[in-house]
Amino acid sequence: MNQNRLLIVGNWKMNLNVQQASILVHRLHERIRIRRDIELVLAPSMLALQPLSLQIDRRKFRLCAQNAYFVDEGAYTGEVSFSMLQDLVHYVIVGHSDRRHKFNEPLEMIRDKVAAAIRNDISPILCVGETAEERKDGETKQVIHDQVTTALSNLASRDVSKVVIAYEPVWALSNGTDYSHHEIPTPDIIAEAIRAIRHNVSELYGPTAAKEMRILYGGSASASTARGLMESEGVDGLLVGGASLNYQEFSGIVDAAYRMQTAISGEI
Ligand code: PGA
Repeated sequence: MNQNRLLIVGNWKMNLNVQQASILVHRLHERIRIRRDIELVLAPSMLALQPLSLQIDRRKFRLCAQNAYFVDEGAYTGEVSFSMLQDLVHYVIVGHSDRRHKFNEPLEMIRDKVAAAIRNDISPILCVGETAEERKDGETKQVIHDQVTTALSNLASRDVSKVVIAYEPVWALSNGTDYSHHEIPTPDIIAEAIRAIRHNVSELYGPTAAKEMRILYGGSASASTARGLMESEGVDGLLVGGASLNYQEFSGIVDAAYRMQTAISGEI
């Protein structure tokens, strides 16, 4: 991992009603201590964002939306725009594989969402990653290249540092409950994909932008695998799905990050 602050994001997906979300935040508050070199982010459902924004200790957590629409306002029934989320969240997840594959979001729509996030002062967490079939066919680098270059193509260079990328191989994502038994990639596979992502960013915006880009790993991370995943070369943190719904697992992941940062800073 490089010198960046570690970023850990809990993506709750379509789980927990407002009351359940509030209980989970309450439990996380009890367990989790503040540490300046670790940034913790929660991505609840759209409905829970507003009440949680009043409940969370902002020194501990930031909020993230799981999706938003790229037009700021208008006749788009059922959608919520980035501009509506502006004062509520620091981050929005863009291009998650659920959106790409279950809702058929094309590359260009994801590009427009990244641009809309930046326009509205929100950092997009851009998810990229190959399916099992694409990996089997040797297309991993091409898929990552297409996803990264299209998504970032409409940005001014000064805005690139606001983007976070999450490498999420689709074959490693849990179904939300079997995260601790699911197949996870080796550190070499993660490092190679992240090198490819930095190379693509470098081609577009130069080596400094590529080096400074925060890149997360996501896919079946749990308390027991978190440290190994975070220690993979180039990883600046984790995007956690299933395990973020369980306060013991999620605080276990945060503990692993604490131990790692403590070891790096030479405190033990
Ligand atoms: P998972 O999900 O940790 O349950 O695999 C990660 C994600 O989809 O962001």
